[in-house]
Amino acid sequence: MITKRTPLDRLVVAVDGPAGAGKGAVCRWVALQYDFEYLDTGAIYRAVALLSLQHGGLADQPDRLATMAREMAFVFSPVDGRFVASLDGADVTLALRQETVSMEASRVAALGPVRSALLDFQRNYGGKKNILLDGRDIGTVVWPEAQRKIFLTASLEERAKRRALELQEKGETVSLPGLLAEMKLRDARDMARAHAPMVPADDAIIVDTTFMTLEESQHQVAALIAPLYQER
Ligand code: DC
Repeated sequence: MITKRTPLDRLVVAVDGPAGAGKGAVCRWVALQYDFEYLDTGAIYRAVALLSLQHGGLADQPDRLATMAREMAFVFSPVDGRFVASLDGADVTLALRQETVSMEASRVAALGPVRSALLDFQRNYGGKKNILLDGRDIGTVVWPEAQRKIFLTASLEERAKRRALELQEKGETVSLPGLLAEMKLRDARDMARAHAPMVPADDAIIVDTTFMTLEESQHQVAALIAPLYQER
């Protein structure tokens, strides 16, 4: 007999929120603590953005880009405690973090056909394993049935400062006002778009990390997931 797998066969945790709130660093740590599969869904949009840029910019051709998104071989996997993204066989982990890719990602992420093309990948990820996904619309669109939804946020100024620090540590020169303006633009685009805008789900728990250290944010999110084990 074939039984249809319902989402409750595994734990699904959705972590949404704006760039720089700490989603990646928090989720990577929490996923390791609880042995969850982890998917940074922003990396998938970034991969589509990279493809777009490699073809001279395709944000004005949503259907062509959606076909490419459906056909791309994207793999996101843990290697020695960090996560590696590969696109059509090439390691693109570093390429995906470039600022040009960030800007193009917020353009391609506004396209309905591209978002639809990426849904199955996000829903099927991890097979039957417990899964933690971070993004913008996980709790509202991708996994509305997730057993725990968290909206991780922080003030724009704090998020820009964190990003500046991150870039400085990599030896890059940064302009804080420039970063702030860019982030503001990306936030506005993510929140105002017609398709799956970034909003907390009605049943999401809001975690504001403005005045928290990374460790405090990690422990706070871990504490929100712990009760799921008792409920099962
Ligand atoms: O989280 P990030 O900065 O890597 O995301 C890159 C872009 O993709 C950003 O503009 C938001 C968008 N995104 C989205 O629209 N939906 C998601 N689930 C994840 C990211």
